[in-house]
Amino acid sequence: MVSDKIEKALNKQIRIEAESSQIYLSMACWAEKKGFEGVAEFMFAQADEEREHMLKLLRYLIERGGNAEISELSKPASVFNSPKEMFEEVLKHEIFVSESINDLVAVTFEERDFATHNFLQWYVAEQIEEEATARTILDKINLIGDDRSGFYLFDKDVRSMITPKAE
Ligand code: FEO
Repeated sequence: MVSDKIEKALNKQIRIEAESSQIYLSMACWAEKKGFEGVAEFMFAQADEEREHMLKLLRYLIERGGNAEISELSKPASVFNSPKEMFEEVLKHEIFVSESINDLVAVTFEERDFATHNFLQWYVAEQIEEEATARTILDKINLIGDDRSGFYLFDKDVRSMITPKAE
């Protein structure tokens, strides 16, 4: 069994991961409309990944005898001025998610719930990767500057950064 405090903290993270999925879906729609096909594919794949993150937490909570809550979700932004602005939002959001995971890990210490602590290590590692990916993409955008033709290659490049789905 998980404690009430752990249950509440896990449910909060479940909502954050679900909202992350919505955020990336919204970004995928924007990119698609603007003709950034590669970026759109990347964002659709990110949205799927975030849903997996959410489901993994949900299944864990149920397995540990907790009550999983499916809550309402906030509406994500749908308009961006540029791919740069959008990826800046991605980085900001992933930093926020990392902080939230860290807070959650801190609660597992308080509650002496070492099983949940162990389980969350996967998320700690995943967040390092997610932040690094956003930074790499922003570096690429900064290198391109205002070069329109550079964005064609950038779009292809981002498509190649999609993580293959685990079988
Ligand atoms: Fe699951 Fe990108 O945080």
